[in-house]
Amino acid sequence: MMKSKTKGTVLSQSCIAPGIYDLKIKTTLASDAHAGQFVGVFTKDASALLPRPISICGVSDDKDSIRLVYRVAGKGTDEFSRLDEGDDVWLLGVLGNGYDISKLAAVGNTEPARVLLLGGGIGIPPMLELAKELKAAGVNAVSVMGYRDDKAFLLDEFTAYSDTYVATEDGSLGTKGNVLDAVRENNIAFDCICACGPMPMLRAIKQFAGDKPAFISLEERMACGVGACLGCVVKTKEVDHHSHVNNARICTDGPVFDASEVEI
Ligand SMILES: Cc1cc2nc3c(=O)[nH]c(=O)nc-3n(C[C@H](O)[C@H](O)[C@H](O)COP(=O)(O)OP(=O)(O)OC[C@H]3O[C@@H](n4cnc5c(N)ncnc54)[C@H](O)[C@@H]3O)c2cc1C
Ligand code: FES
Repeated sequence: MMKSKTKGTVLSQSCIAPGIYDLKIKTTLASDAHAGQFVGVFTKDASALLPRPISICGVSDDKDSIRLVYRVAGKGTDEFSRLDEGDDVWLLGVLGNGYDISKLAAVGNTEPARVLLLGGGIGIPPMLELAKELKAAGVNAVSVMGYRDDKAFLLDEFTAYSDTYVATEDGSLGTKGNVLDAVRENNIAFDCICACGPMPMLRAIKQFAGDKPAFISLEERMACGVGACLGCVVKTKEVDHHSHVNNARICTDGPVFDASEVEI
């Protein structure tokens, strides 16, 4: 279905760690927003026509608003960090496939399935909505979140939905090292993995998962966000039904992929 620009209203915004912002937006898009999906957020700069993709970090219980947690990376996100309560914000969405909760619930050999959520850096926000949706579906989730240091944004909130562990690069909280170091150190058992984070982390997770299913969210650079420009393709094992070649568009076929089906 064609996505059109939708106006939202900023409910609140706060800085939750250095350079990390927590933005709540009242929008009709919330009624159909799910974990792993994202919205395009437009800047006011008319020369920058393409919206910036930001993942759904939360959907309010009344399905009235969405929550975006983002890092200031450049001009667009810097502009968003100055949005204030009552401001208008234009959105494109909801975009992407998101996680299939019923598929996750059915995976593996244990009853109920044990889903391991791995988030690294700015890949952490989408994992929070996923933890919430899994808990609501009665699925056991274990969250392992990886940060640079003790500015562990959102970490407390994960504990409401899952057993939660932390890894930090500098060792100031939890396991010193990355999320996989924390999984090994704590002997965490799992039936499948869902992960979002930097590409080297996703590559390591794909290898670590072995025969177990791993669903990874690829948040690489994106342009149109709606499948038209092919600016976001990833190599796939199977031939794509749309392009008839071995690739998929991250923005429409993803951003969530079965790790065994993509070459990263
Ligand atoms: C599906 C998807 C979901 C995303 N979800 C989130 C999220 O929840 N929170 C969040 O903070 N960010 C998220 N991102 C990344 C975010 O879209 C970029 O940081 C943002 O578009 C940068 O825009 P800018 O104008 O501020 O920076 P620009 O001026 O466009 O770029 C500034 C710097 O950021 C780098 N950059 C730009 N886009 C990306 C990207 N996609 N990944 C890594 N580096 C990038 C550039 O190379 C450059 O160094 C997501 C990206 C995708 C594709
Ligand atoms: S960003 Fe244009 S096709 Fe994906």
